[in-house]
Amino acid sequence: MSKAWSGRFSQATDPRVEQFTESISFDARLARVDVQGSQAHARMLAKVGLLTADECEQIVSGLSDILAEIERGEMTWKTELEDIHMHIESTLTARLGDVGRKLHTGRSRNDQVATDLKLYVRGEIDRLDGLLNRLQQAFVNRAERDLDIILPGYTHLQRAQPVCASHYWLAYCEKFQRDRERLADCRKRVNISPLGAAALAGSSLPIDRDETARLLGFSEPAANSLDISSDRDFLVEFAFSLSLIAAHLSTWAEEWILWFTTEFGFLKLPDAYTTGSSIMPQKRNPDVLELIRGKTARIMASVPRLLILLKSLPMAYNRDLQEDKLAVFEACDQAAACLDLAPDVVAGAELNIDRINARLEDGFLDATALMEYLIKKGVPMRTAHHTVGGLVALCESKSCRLADLSLDDLRQKCDRIEADVKSVLGTRNAAAALVSFGSGGPERVREQLAAWQKRLA
Ligand code: ARG
Repeated sequence: MSKAWSGRFSQATDPRVEQFTESISFDARLARVDVQGSQAHARMLAKVGLLTADECEQIVSGLSDILAEIERGEMTWKTELEDIHMHIESTLTARLGDVGRKLHTGRSRNDQVATDLKLYVRGEIDRLDGLLNRLQQAFVNRAERDLDIILPGYTHLQRAQPVCASHYWLAYCEKFQRDRERLADCRKRVNISPLGAAALAGSSLPIDRDETARLLGFSEPAANSLDISSDRDFLVEFAFSLSLIAAHLSTWAEEWILWFTTEFGFLKLPDAYTTGSSIMPQKRNPDVLELIRGKTARIMASVPRLLILLKSLPMAYNRDLQEDKLAVFEACDQAAACLDLAPDVVAGAELNIDRINARLEDGFLDATALMEYLIKKGVPMRTAHHTVGGLVALCESKSCRLADLSLDDLRQKCDRIEADVKSVLGTRNAAAALVSFGSGGPERVREQLAAWQKRLA
């Protein structure tokens, strides 16, 4: 089969060069969007009179047949045909002859591949948005289930103040909501049509770029052919959005890996999402969580990979850009795989309430509540802080908790303390005392839960 561009060549391509330059091994997944783009292009060509209605019909249905064959696994990929675009066009031409030869009128593979990528990424953004929604829903369901459970909150991984377990779950909903918003924002720039920018300069033919943009559901055609045929900003933005999703997933995974340890013992993971050891019979390992954490490397690496690829590329299209797909597909596949499993892990886990409660009074989780109690009694904040610090030291010397101190012990350090101090001592009381907007106390968390239930409904 002679190559579509072979007109000015007298020597055959070295097979190693064909191997070196091919992209069909990784861009075949663009078949569906490539056909979509080509069908819109053909319809536009017919509208402006560059194809007859009959030619357009032949092309559109010929492309549909080819796509169906590809999706049934019937297409044989050939290295010498380089990429998905050439496979589809040359198959069409083999079947339709001169009519097939007209499809590429007024476009180039440069605007074609940019269009394909945008259609592909747009679809992936919509799919990821659905996956993120499902994950948020899993956290909201957990928040409903765990409303009465109090957990230690940590800073520096040291026990700090108590919060409702549901506050943790809704914290993840917030993070994933920002991820969804970031994807939606990225989608706006994805959704601008490159088609018709042609090789780099546009065309002298009467093509209608508004029409192809409309047919493909793009918001508008891009205004500068040089810019848009070389633009891959949207891939970097997409990869970055995926990386933050991965960062959030890895924080969650890490937290749950810790909570699943014997040392913490906060969490029971379902057997279906843990694996055993080949040598230690007692082991149950949180491999799914570890790999969600681990796959972050592949996802995040896509950002520097793309930036390095783009850095200092002269305008407009350069073959370097072919490498963009490897980074983006890998990041996208891995993020989707993590997001696909995560909701089931979230739903299947159980908090080990007895273990959590047995140690809930450890670590002076009520110290800040006591300090704020003193502030309410008129003690300046710094003084209150110092006073409670002294009381904690006293407890440590007596191996007891703040709630175990007698009123006399307490009043010896600060005479503003009265019998009502009991209402803020103890972890549950300290949690209940948290009432500011956005805090982890039960009252506010219930409000936030209701807001999330409404938002996701
Ligand atoms: N396979 C190529 C890519 O992914 C398609 C564009 C090729 N354009 C060209 N002028 N050789 O970038």
